[in-house]
Amino acid sequence: MLHFFTILAAAVVAVHGFSGGAPASVCKSLLPGHPAEPQATPSPFRIVVNKSTVKPGQEVMVIMESTNDKRFKGFLLQARINDEIVGHFDVSDVDKNIQTLDCLGGSKNAITHRNSDDKKAIVAKWIAPENVKGTVKFVGTFVETGLVFWVGETSEEVSLEH
Ligand SMILES: *[C@@H]1O[C@H](CO)[C@@H](O)[C@H](O)[C@H]1NC(C)=O
Repeated sequence: MLHFFTILAAAVVAVHGFSGGAPASVCKSLLPGHPAEPQATPSPFRIVVNKSTVKPGQEVMVIMESTNDKRFKGFLLQARINDEIVGHFDVSDVDKNIQTLDCLGGSKNAITHRNSDDKKAIVAKWIAPENVKGTVKFVGTFVETGLVFWVGETSEEVSLEH
């Protein structure tokens, strides 16, 4: 009996991945917990920002959206300068689709889904860091279904100005 439930639980995890949001253990790889390879085809989902330059402490609106009739169930998003995760997200507690995640010793420096509902788009606010210079790109993962996902999609560049 115990075995049966262990196997069942493992199968459920394998099929559904992280239905309640990505865990901090995938902050670096951005990989969902699914037994499949990322799609190699162009992504039907994209990451759009509302400005190309930003000053410390200012906000950027970031949109993760579908470009056609496809919907995504899960996502993970960070702002990076090269491989370093920078800035943080300001997410409303009442947004049922989005929650922040603390990655690699940071605080609220990533966002992920709260549920596996189909999403056409999510909108988030990102706050530029103090004392950091460089060019930021938002990097993200979109999960369409358990076995179909795109990893490492990027936005246009946003320069940090002082
Ligand atoms: C971009 O979005 C942020 C956050 O909502 C807002 O404060 C800012 O005014 C917007 N900038 C532009 C150029 O639309």
